Amino acid sequence: MEKVVIRTARHSDIDAIMNIEHESFLPGLREEKELYLKRITAFPEGFLVAEDPDLGQIGGYICSELWREDQNINADVLALGHDPLTVHHADGKHLYITSFGTLKSWRGQKVGLKLFQALENKIDNRFPQVVKKILIVSEKWTAARNLYTKQGFKETARIIDFFTPDDLPAEDAVIMMK
Ligand SMILES: CC(C)(COP(=O)(O)OP(=O)(O)OC[C@H]1O[C@@H](n2cnc3c(N)ncnc32)[C@H](O)[C@@H]1OP(=O)(O)O)[C@@H](O)C(=O)NCCC(=O)NCCS
Repeated sequence: MEKVVIRTARHSDIDAIMNIEHESFLPGLREEKELYLKRITAFPEGFLVAEDPDLGQIGGYICSELWREDQNINADVLALGHDPLTVHHADGKHLYITSFGTLKSWRGQKVGLKLFQALENKIDNRFPQVVKKILIVSEKWTAARNLYTKQGFKETARIIDFFTPDDLPAEDAVIMMK
């Protein structure tokens, strides 16, 4: 994955993004294509993809929103599927990472790390007003939790039984901030 390029997402990337999303999340936790399209529209600078130019394949994505400081951080707004066009504000001081995933065949090759660091660097450089970075992760998603911890995020709260995969026990959400 030496040649992987990180670039801003385009609406035309949507099928590749949804394919990664599908591989990354269990039924019951997946979000709609229309929502991802809205995320690209609302904040394209905060939506990055990892592409192998030789293969012409997109193998990872990360997307985000900027929230105003008075935005409550509660289960309602954190709920999967909330509307980015309502919550995102370009002058927001809080970065909220909405979704992140890599293709199974691309995992363990530092693509996730590259995407995550690219997003943080871009936000730090272009949106210097941002003072806090926020995300939620299931207690069960060890790879993601390790990555976030290594990048300096700390657990600040939990929401019990927040994630409800179909036909499986509910999982607690861990809220992490930096
Ligand atoms: C989380 C995810 C994006 C990581 O992508 P990736 O490209 O495989 O990650 P990287 O190869 O860049 O690994 C970066 C770090 O993540 C952690 N990590 C990655 N895979 C891991 C694994 N299988 N077990 C434990 N930690 C792991 C490690 O800290 C790793 O750093 P290290 O190799 O120096 O120890 C990927 O596993 C994924 O898509 N998971 C399913 C979806 C998901 O959980 N998304 C997060 C939503 S909050």
